[in-house]
Amino acid sequence: MTTVIFSIDQGTTSSRTLVFSPKGEILFTAQEEFPQLYPQDGWVEHDPEAIWSTVLSTLKQAQAYAAERDLSVAAIGITNQRETTLVWDRETGKPLYNAIVWQDRRTAEICRGLAKKLPAEDLQAKTGLLHDPYFSGSKMAWILDNVDGAREKAEHGELCFGTIDSFLIWRLTEGKRHVTDATNASRTNLFDIHAQRWDEGLLNLFNVPKAGLPEVLDCAADFGICTVLGMDIPITGVAGDQQAAAIGQACFEVGDIKSTYGTGCFVLLNTGSEAITSKNRLLTTVGYRIKGETTYALEGSIFMAGASVQWLRDKMKLVDDARETEAVCERLDSTEGVYLVPAFTGLGAPYWAPDARGAVFGMTRNTGRDQVIRATVESVVYQTYDLFDAMSKDGVAPTALRVDGGMTANSWMCGYLADILDMPVLRPKVLETTALGAAYLAGLGAGIYSSMQEVAGQWSAERTFTPSLDAKTRETRLADWAKYVQKLLS
Ligand code: G3P
Repeated sequence: MTTVIFSIDQGTTSSRTLVFSPKGEILFTAQEEFPQLYPQDGWVEHDPEAIWSTVLSTLKQAQAYAAERDLSVAAIGITNQRETTLVWDRETGKPLYNAIVWQDRRTAEICRGLAKKLPAEDLQAKTGLLHDPYFSGSKMAWILDNVDGAREKAEHGELCFGTIDSFLIWRLTEGKRHVTDATNASRTNLFDIHAQRWDEGLLNLFNVPKAGLPEVLDCAADFGICTVLGMDIPITGVAGDQQAAAIGQACFEVGDIKSTYGTGCFVLLNTGSEAITSKNRLLTTVGYRIKGETTYALEGSIFMAGASVQWLRDKMKLVDDARETEAVCERLDSTEGVYLVPAFTGLGAPYWAPDARGAVFGMTRNTGRDQVIRATVESVVYQTYDLFDAMSKDGVAPTALRVDGGMTANSWMCGYLADILDMPVLRPKVLETTALGAAYLAGLGAGIYSSMQEVAGQWSAERTFTPSLDAKTRETRLADWAKYVQKLLS
């Protein structure tokens, strides 16, 4: 019987289950989208039952695929949109409120209040993070304070809090396990990334009772047995989606760096056993924790990447399909001075401006659809540059970038990224790096692999993009971009 690994990838806009061979080949993919809920300006929610039903349905499709071919399922790996927060009843498993999504800005005021009580440097020293509504801690506190009776129940230990991975494990094990992994824990603002434990002082500050938090495990570990498919399958690998992508990209050496262009864009640099504290508003996070050893990463998070192209399609109706953007970008020499700053849900790293909103600059009578489309794609590249600039100010200088995610199907964008970063950009053969990373962790946890280094050899580039833009044009465009971002922030 051939062995396979199921990888659940619960993302911001869809849930998927992929079936991988131990060699990292994709054998099958099931995907289902679910609705995005925007109850107020700056609020973003998901219905937890929609998340659960799409996960379960894709998992059942994978099970049917495996059963038809007589494949033996060795393990399940889970990777997930990070920071998105849920609170559910320990007895009934019923969520008290919708999941508050990572993009949600409703707790901006709470975070400003917390910043007066704990200096940003102190929070950063423990968690590697900043005072920003992006992270889970303030979202948990909001649910406890805004759902009738929630705080009292929480004090009595009747509630479970967690990120999407925790919630899924709880449901997949039919309430037997309330656990998470170190990468997801490191995105809450409540976890000491050096001591690798929930921090009492931070729990008090955020007013989140410890009784509701999950146990934190390594990324490859025993997360419980999935019993909802009528058979027992061990869950043995878990990581937040960006960390999983770094694993799928085989970023196992110090200095390896990847950038994933999904809804947002997330750049992660492997810094090994050293947790580098950024002086330029990047995040320090757990890259992975295996056999009790933590590998850290320096992260730059941009909230709008693929989502800005979705905006071009769904709101501006400038394209019918995201794939059209590539041909538009190619046929123009430039945007003719047009710049779009996609601060639709504020700006993430390195600006951290939750109240900023998007704008288009430099338009003339000659500006049309094409220039706005190309300016939107270019904005993703300039934002990536800003992260690299912050990294170089922090004293690290990567020499090549591995990219993945839906937007990297746009080869023009990958080429422009090489131009603006002035370094080679490598696109891998397997673009599903997030799901692949979770499958690798599950394989490690199930004993299929003996170390992560064993899978590193399975990575290879499909195409390498090299820089070709002249230095003067590059510098002028970067200076214009910086000028307009400052205008937006002032
Ligand atoms: O931190 C948020 C991130 O994990 C979401 O990733 O791929 O759903 O944009 P994605």
